[in-house]
Formats: sequence, C-alpha cells, structure tokens
Amino acid sequence: MLEQIKETVNYISNKTGFKPEVGIILGSGLGGLVNEIKIEHQISYEDIPHFPVSTVEGHSGRLIFGKLAGKKVIAMQGRFHYYEGYTMKEVTFPVRVMKFLGIKTLILSNASGGVNPDFEIGDIMIINDQINLLPSNPLIGINIKELGPRFVDMHDAYDKNLINKALKIAKKNGINCKTGIYAAVSGPCFETPSEYKYVRNVGADTVGMSTVPEVMVARHMDIPCFAVSIITDLGVEGKIVEISHNEVVEVANRAEPKMTLIIKELIAEL
Ligand code: HPA
Repeated sequence: MLEQIKETVNYISNKTGFKPEVGIILGSGLGGLVNEIKIEHQISYEDIPHFPVSTVEGHSGRLIFGKLAGKKVIAMQGRFHYYEGYTMKEVTFPVRVMKFLGIKTLILSNASGGVNPDFEIGDIMIINDQINLLPSNPLIGINIKELGPRFVDMHDAYDKNLINKALKIAKKNGINCKTGIYAAVSGPCFETPSEYKYVRNVGADTVGMSTVPEVMVARHMDIPCFAVSIITDLGVEGKIVEISHNEVVEVANRAEPKMTLIIKELIAEL
C-alpha cells in the first residue's frame, strides 16, 4: 500500500505542484462548498492512479485543489462508500494520499438520519464522537509503521478544539447547531424502524454510511478531524417517513449554506 500511496502522491504532485494544508471530504448533496474554493487544479478520480471511481448519483468524483478562506485545500467532491463494494482500505485510500500530500487537518461532511428525538430534518450536527457499526475496520491487517501505530487511540477522534471553535462560529452567525454521536452502518438499505431504534439504543444521535472509516484512518496518521452531519431524515418512532436518495440530497442542499459558512470560517481560523 505504501508504494501505491507514493505513486499516487507523485502523480498528483507532478501534475499540480500543490501542497495542501487542509483536506476536505464532502458528502451527498454537500458538494457546494467547492463553489467557494478558488480552484487552481482539478483531477477526475478516473485519471488518478490507484483511486477507486465513485459510482453514486450526487457524487461527481473529482479531486479539487485551491484556496479557501486563505488556506490551501484539497477537496474530494464525492467519496467512496463501503456499500459500493470497495474494501475499507479502498474507501480510505484518498485519506492516506492527502496525508502524504501534506494536510494537517481533515474536514468531513455527510448526510445522515437523526435518531435523537430532539432532532429535526435540516438540522446541522457537529460530530463529537463516532460508533463503528460497519462490519470491518480499514486498519485490519499488517500495520504499516510508517503510517501509524498498531493500536490507535480514539478518545479524541474529533478534535475538541475544532469543535469549540465551530460552535463559537455557529453562535456568532445565529446558526443553531447540534452536537452528537454519529454511527456508521454499511447501507445501502436505509434502516428499518427496529434498526433505527437499535442505533439509538447503542448511543448514537444520528446514523449514516460514511465518515467513520476515513476518521479511523486519519487518526491512525494523527490528523485532527472535524465533521459536520446534516440530518436529512428522521429515524425516530412516530416521525419515520419513506426516504429516498433524492430526498437526502435535496435536504442536504438546503442546509448546506449554513454548513459551508461554518467550515469556511473554521478554515480561516486554522
Ligand atoms: N440512514 C443511513 N444513512 C443515511 C440516512 C439514514 O437514515 N440518511 C442519510 N444517510
């Protein structure tokens, strides 16, 4: 894997000469942050050696390099999901590449189903912890010492300093922001009512199909992480309604400007 990472990093560096400070991974319907980036280079995933190709509607699949809030950022417009059939190592490969390109912070967004009864559709939740309910972990297998330790401490999977800064930014801008725990499941089925109840009972506030693998790999390499989830539907008894991917994208699109503002101001303060 180390060889592959180096080949991919060499390809990107030769093509762009770009040294990003911040990595950004955008979720379903949340790619609009890209419009705020002063783009200097972009590469389609299919042109990048060893990169998987994104297959989901609403994910356009490009790596974007440019300036956002005065910082050099690399953004993944479209991420890879376990349910697409990729291995956990493939899902997280881009995070490895971003680290070797030089990122010092990783920022992620996703769409999720709220299971906390206090949540409403369209809410923004800053993730303060995670629960891995995926059937695997990207760090299983021989540990590559050059990347990080065998056993990874996860007590601060999400950086407290970044969370506090983001909450202050939200308050200053009059944005109502929740904080809470994100659980990742494999998908691609949305949850049954019993599964939503299960997710709530194990302690989560929201459930989705991403982010957790990327954060595990980022923490393996000691990258501080910050993530925001948009609640696109509710898995709360009495409030569960039929849900489709289109509705997820639509709600995410509507809530996105507030999320974008928080992330932009946070990056300015890094
Ligand atoms: N469950 C899982 N993933 C999701 C959901 C959900 O309800 N909403 C958006 N992504």
